[in-house]
Amino acid sequence: MTVEIMEKAHIAKNKPFYTELKKGKRYLWCSCGLSKTQPFCDQSHVGTSFKPVLTVGQYDGEEVLFCGCKQTKNAPFCDGAHNNIDDEYSSDYPNSSENKNVLEVLADENGLAMLDGGCYVSIVASVAREEHENISVGTLISEKQGAQYQSQFYLESSQGQSSVLSFSDSHVVILVTEGKGVINISGKNFFIAPEMGIYVRPNEAFCIKNTETENIKLFASVCPSAEAPKILDSMPSNFAEDYPDRTIKANSDSRNRMADRYWEVLVDKQVGCTMATQFIGEIPESKALPHRHLYEESLVILKGSGYMWTEGRKAKVTAGDIIFLPRKQVHSLQATDPEGLYLVGVIYPGDNPSINY
Ligand code: FES
Repeated sequence: MTVEIMEKAHIAKNKPFYTELKKGKRYLWCSCGLSKTQPFCDQSHVGTSFKPVLTVGQYDGEEVLFCGCKQTKNAPFCDGAHNNIDDEYSSDYPNSSENKNVLEVLADENGLAMLDGGCYVSIVASVAREEHENISVGTLISEKQGAQYQSQFYLESSQGQSSVLSFSDSHVVILVTEGKGVINISGKNFFIAPEMGIYVRPNEAFCIKNTETENIKLFASVCPSAEAPKILDSMPSNFAEDYPDRTIKANSDSRNRMADRYWEVLVDKQVGCTMATQFIGEIPESKALPHRHLYEESLVILKGSGYMWTEGRKAKVTAGDIIFLPRKQVHSLQATDPEGLYLVGVIYPGDNPSINY
């Protein structure tokens, strides 16, 4: 009898298989890639060193992405490894006859360019703001605007010490885009500077101390979502000492490759944030092939410009704009500058921004 030895699994498909599981049902995932009933085993592995992997549905309608490329390190589920099969991220041709018919949407008087399925681009400078002591607050993403898991607020702090803000029992993940100063989190001071991620624990409060003339600009993602910050009379002294790391600066040593793109986690469960993952990413001049995610996402464009595309609409995005992307919405982000796009995203549920289908 000839025994076939396979050293590497066969790539059944360059993308995962979206599947809704049934409670208590057993699923045998094909790890060899030879099965004709992908993503499930049909015994084709017999005679190879591969074995199928069992998973059991936890509840009816549980949504999973079974790995199709068979390169995952999180079998049987996709971990984003399929993005690295080719050297270039799967791209689309912006001038294809299909794409030429896509309507370009301009922002309305509130700075919103509405795309398909509740996805939108928001021009932050046009968003109304509420003034508090040395800080103004604008709502960029909220339940009212269709978000399920996160809200996002733009904060701009002028010289002096700001009002004390609290988002009650939500996790708060902040990004600094301009200016330098200090954030006081429930009694403890941290230096802050651009492209830094900041984490505020549930029930803590914070204020910004700005000693410069330049305003400090920040984006606060709140998960679970909140309608608005509460303004407190004084700073509570309830800093959660068990979670000492609160400011995370991008560090190119921890970058993850995704074909010709890069991403790096700033705030996530490593520092205690179990309700959101914040990452910084770099996209070269290109248009991604349309895809979806199982997570809800907000993006702040830090550098460069391009277009956010959904099925039948597209809107220009440029540094300073934000994008809200609902779960499962087909989209692609195009970078039009030769220097590419540089952005920061917050996702939930899920903690791996390279998982797409
Ligand atoms: S399909 Fe295999 S890692 Fe995503």
